[in-house]
Formats: sequence, C-alpha cells, structure tokens
Amino acid sequence: MTVHPPAPVPSAFAAVFGVPPEAEGAAPGRVNLLGEHTDYNDGFVLPIAIPQQTRVALRRSGRDRFRLHAQALGQAVEFTLDVGPAEHFATYVYGCLAVARAAGAEVPVLDIHVASEVPIGVGLSSSAALEVATLRGLRQLLDLPFDDVQVAQMAQRAEIDHAGVRCGILDQMASSLADTTRALLLDTRSLERRFVPLPPDAAILVIDCGVPRSLAASAYNLRRAECEQAALLLGVTSLRDVPDAVAVETLPEPMRRRARHVLTENARVLQAVDCASAQDFGALMDASHASLRDDYEVSIPELDRLVSLLQAHPDVYGARLTGAGFGGACVALCRDGAVAEVAGGVVQAYGRAGGRGRVLVPPLGPAAAGPSPAAGPSSA
Ligand code: GLA
Repeated sequence: MTVHPPAPVPSAFAAVFGVPPEAEGAAPGRVNLLGEHTDYNDGFVLPIAIPQQTRVALRRSGRDRFRLHAQALGQAVEFTLDVGPAEHFATYVYGCLAVARAAGAEVPVLDIHVASEVPIGVGLSSSAALEVATLRGLRQLLDLPFDDVQVAQMAQRAEIDHAGVRCGILDQMASSLADTTRALLLDTRSLERRFVPLPPDAAILVIDCGVPRSLAASAYNLRRAECEQAALLLGVTSLRDVPDAVAVETLPEPMRRRARHVLTENARVLQAVDCASAQDFGALMDASHASLRDDYEVSIPELDRLVSLLQAHPDVYGARLTGAGFGGACVALCRDGAVAEVAGGVVQAYGRAGGRGRVLVPPLGPAAAGPSPAAGPSSA
C-alpha cells in the first residue's frame, strides 16, 4: 500500500475526478481522557478533539455508480446504494449515505474524495471522523436540516448497521461537537453536555504502543454483551442505573468485574470534572488504566508497559490506555511545556524495552499522522 502525503482537498479531488468538488465536510478524531466503555452503558465520557482531521469532498456525478477515492490508501472503490462496497473503509462512507437516505435525504450518485490525517486503528476515532465528515459534506451539498447531534446519531447508526461494531455514541459526538481546547463532558444517556477546561498547567500527549488492535470488534461486542448480562442480572435497564457498588459484588464473574469497571469509571469522570489540580485528574487517569486492565481486561502487555513508563515520568500527572483497548494508543496528562521532552524520553525507554512507540498528539506533521499499516478506519 502506498502512503501519499495529504494534498489540499479540492485540488486532490480535481486531480482524481477532473473537476472541482461541489461540497466539503471535515471532522476531527478524538482522544478520550476518561470514561472508557461507559457510553454503551448510558454513562459519562470526557473526550477532547485532536488536531488531525478527515476531509471529504463530494460532487454529483450523473453516473450510475458512486466512485470513492481515499487519498491515504491510494484506493478507489465503486458501489451503488443498493449494493454496498466490499472494502472495509468504504463501508463507513456507504453506511452514512445509506443512513441519510433512510432519514429522508435524496442522495444522488456522487464522486467522493477522502483525505485523512487521523491515525488509523489506534483508538483515536478515525472511523467517526470519516463518518461525521461524510455527513457534513452531504449536509452541505444537499442543504440537509440535520444538526450536529443528529449527524452524530446518524454516524453511530452507520457504524452499527454497516461496520458491525455495536459502538456507543462517544466517538461520533466527540467528532461532531468537541474542540481541541477543552474537554467535552457528555452524558451519553441524555446527550446533555458541557465543555470543561483542562486542568491548569497541563497538556495532552498521545503515544501509539505500536501494536495494532486485533479482534477489536468481536472482543468489543463481547464486553458489551457482558455488560448487558450484568444489567439484566441486576434488574436494571443499563449499568448506569445500578444504585451502588455493593450490588455488583453479588454478580458472577466476569460480569462482576465488568460492572465494577463501569461504575467506578463513571464516578471517575464526574470527579475529574471537579478536579482543581492536574495531579488529582492524573490520579484518576491512572486508576482508570488499572480498572481497564484488571476489571475490564482490555489492555495488553505493551499498553501496560507504555503506561507504566509514562506514569513513572516526573512530568506526567497520569496516563492510561485510550479508546477501546486491545492495542492502540495511550493518553497522558503532562506538565505543560514538558510534552516534547516526556514524549522523547518515554518513546526511547519503550524502544529499549523492545517496543515501537509513535507520538500521535501533538502531531509532528503529516508523516507522524499518517496511516498505520492497518487496512482502514476502525472504531472499536
Ligand atoms: C470505541 C467505541 C466507543 C466507546 C469506546 C470505549 O471507541 O466506538 O463507542 O465504547 O470504544 O470507550
């Protein structure tokens, strides 16, 4: 697979299709600071947008088949709305078009160009960025009346129905509504939300552990099923409704530990929002990692190693795996002004331990943000 550097989207579209696009949509990836595997339990999450974006350019083609070109993958795919594409990355775009049509939009046959800086397959929501950018582009092209929350909901529906991941709404809401300067506190049940400043003197660092997520979709769906089973056994609609932590101790394994993670993680999100200091916020991130590792069992040794190195650094307040787990990236809250030094030191130490770390946020430029060898965007 050839990796091409990103080009300005309208000219890249014109280079492929010979005419300029009629509309464009863009959306960022996200990093989740706290609140992992809580969204499909009606819980709380605390993501922030990352600087890397996905851009989708569109034009009515008048042909009988959609043409989709993905710049980073150097790949072109054709499909119709009745017979979707076989290529994994294209199902996200196709899914959005199909969901928009089901919601009443008259979707014409299009030429579509995708250019993305969002790292793929590391837990930074490359799939949600692609979905939200596609729907934004379509909204602009057809002057559709969907607001940003509806765009997020349609993007989630596309992912569940067409990519086969029974995801919550964290990624799509973050991509549609978050910004890069403040965290977004979201109640995934009511969709009530507010922006929350980062703790003082703190900055975000994201490092990929170098291990692509494997079996992420099936393991993710299994965790979700375990949570549903736990809720059923406790007689509640979702784990959000469990009144106190004592109740979960009566559950059989692994439901007991899964539910305990969800309850403690929700509590950590709500505590983090009121944290006066970066140290307190960081301690909650450390506790979140332990809970994801021991109770939710979605970490891997490489993530644990990288998180330990980050946590041991004097300029790091706290660190944890981010996203669904099973591989991918870690997020750390660092002393502002020390991010580059922390990143350099930790990636080196991780390398000495046999790992191949890659700094993703702050982005070091197009090369650092380029796609990993994984085949296409993925969310779980
Ligand atoms: C993936 C899913 C989200 C969320 C996270 C884990 O990113 O798409 O809905 O469940 O995993 O917090």
